[in-house]
Amino acid sequence: MLYERLLRPALFCSDPERAHHMALSLLSKTPLGDWIGTDPKGSPTTVWNLTFRNPLGLAAGFDKNAMSLPAWYALGFGFVEIGTVTRHAQPGNPRPRVFRCPAARGLVNRLGFPNDGAETIARRIHLYRERHTHKDFPIGINIGKSKITPLEEAEEDYVFSFRQLYDLGDFFVVNVSSPNTPGLRDLQSPELLTPILRALRDENRARDSKPLVVKIAPDLTDLQITEIVNVVGELGLDGIVATNTTIDHSAITLKEKGGLSGKPVTARSTEVVKTVSEASAGKFPIIGVGGVFTGLDYQAKLDAGASLVEIYTSFIYRGPRVVAKILDEALAPA
Ligand code: FNR
Repeated sequence: MLYERLLRPALFCSDPERAHHMALSLLSKTPLGDWIGTDPKGSPTTVWNLTFRNPLGLAAGFDKNAMSLPAWYALGFGFVEIGTVTRHAQPGNPRPRVFRCPAARGLVNRLGFPNDGAETIARRIHLYRERHTHKDFPIGINIGKSKITPLEEAEEDYVFSFRQLYDLGDFFVVNVSSPNTPGLRDLQSPELLTPILRALRDENRARDSKPLVVKIAPDLTDLQITEIVNVVGELGLDGIVATNTTIDHSAITLKEKGGLSGKPVTARSTEVVKTVSEASAGKFPIIGVGGVFTGLDYQAKLDAGASLVEIYTSFIYRGPRVVAKILDEALAPA
């Protein structure tokens, strides 16, 4: 309540990206997360032989550079997905590049993967690992293609980041679904996707075989989803994250290019989770993400077949206690 009545109106007066950086900086440079901190809610779950203290995690893009890992733990998340990390450090697209749609409870972003690059981020996660040994708080690392790398060389670019970060992630997400890197989503076609995933899988099998999953867009047809499920199955990969942001802006009036997240994507992303679950016959775990604001939204993702759920936009709208709120609501009798 305090957040929604006082803090959010103040934050919403400033540019969304500035507000985001202010919040991240507060969370990383002060014990704010510990002060706000909530008792861990929800029940532990085991997926891919990893223990998650609860199934609700922070989606990729929020902590791209691994700046605030202790805060995510303090705020009650069950896990976190760092990134998207690219091989080369890059500034992303020109600003402004994040826009709020409060009436629709959405966000539009065209950030284009601004990040410090695989080497620097690896160092940062290493430092965190030296100081913290939470056994029930897996860290996923989401890797993407650097903007300067041509699509034909995408495979080496992904493999470089994967190698660089390998020892530091508990699981890895291959991002081929962000709408803000030119051509990236074309990598979702089986012809382009298969060699990239095969190269990563071979690299993975030569080491410890960590869980390796693919993140897909909500704008795919059922046929395209089924094709990706088949590729994942044939290569023996470990799951799918559904979904990224959508390029369908029919639910909002804002005229800005980019990926739309939040409430407008809730239903579609749940549908995609269901399609993946049916097409894969439950053979691998699914992480459901897209417009989870309430306990009901969270439960809907689990009912559709997700084993784990992630949030991004609802953190902006509901505040730092959002994990406890969602998990409490999911536990509350209807
Ligand atoms: C994202 N998302 C995202 N996804 C990804 O794989 N890599 C990324 O770098 C980013 N960056 C990013 C920035 C911003 C500002 C937003 C709002 C979103 C997508 C995110 O992880 C998630 O898949 C979607 O936002 C849908 O979930 P929510 O936001 O509706 O809970």
